[in-house]
Amino acid sequence: MTKDQDHSIVADYNGYDYKKIFWEDADRKYEDLADRMAIRKLLPDSMDDFVDIAGGYGRLADEYLGRATTCTLFDYSKTELADAKEKYGSRLKTKAGDIYSLPFKDASFDGLMMIRATHHFKDMDKVISELYRVLKPGGIAVIEVANQKTLPRIIRYWRKKTDLNPFIKGQSYLKDLNMYNYHPKYIEELFKRQGFKILRVLSVSNFRNGKLKAVFGNKGLARLEKPAQTLLAPVRFAPSIYYKLEKPAKS
Ligand SMILES: C[S@@+](CC[C@H](N)C(=O)[O-])C[C@H]1O[C@@H](n2cnc3c(N)ncnc32)[C@H](O)[C@@H]1O
Repeated sequence: MTKDQDHSIVADYNGYDYKKIFWEDADRKYEDLADRMAIRKLLPDSMDDFVDIAGGYGRLADEYLGRATTCTLFDYSKTELADAKEKYGSRLKTKAGDIYSLPFKDASFDGLMMIRATHHFKDMDKVISELYRVLKPGGIAVIEVANQKTLPRIIRYWRKKTDLNPFIKGQSYLKDLNMYNYHPKYIEELFKRQGFKILRVLSVSNFRNGKLKAVFGNKGLARLEKPAQTLLAPVRFAPSIYYKLEKPAKS
């Protein structure tokens, strides 16, 4: 599913049935609900032009279609975009391309989101600068980051089950999965260095664990998740950390 590029890696979802294989067959209802809860807390109610970056088949499109005049779904995979087009038709524009060189003019959008994509990106510095570039001054970005400093990872490291040190302020490459995770402090420094202002942080998918799912069920976990997203945000131990960022308006 992955091919090397000059400076980066594209996770190529063309022809991969992400919806069925990842979401439906694997029963990730709780994770889906957790994403939606966070988005509802963070995304502005009313926007002119909005883009869902690396939005796949538009899993979360119903969370933003009612909030913006024009909505665009951007992704590398043309088959994912075709699935979205089939479902949403003219309500959702689609655009294909590579995140490292977004096919949009500077200051095109007053809102964007990027969910469950950072684990595919080696060069987050470049990704963040592209997101910043396409936002209008005063625009809002909601970005989910794959966290390297999760509680299970910390425990595994302390028990010497892994060499990957979750406390190092940088990125870690998970060789078996061909994925990247990021230390929250590192990513927050990148956001700030780019010029973003961090408005709010949420801790998301706090109870992503097969045993907990078996005991509490998807809905039970979702009930626990709701308060946990805010309460646990300061410790940043969850697998997904959500950021609401603002590109400051020019003074
Ligand atoms: C795990 S899926 C997430 C999709 C959607 N955001 C969601 O939460 O359901 C990751 C998406 O990133 C896209 N992607 C991976 N590398 C990309 C790149 N370099 N440029 C644009 N999209 C990319 C894939 O095609 C895929 O649709």
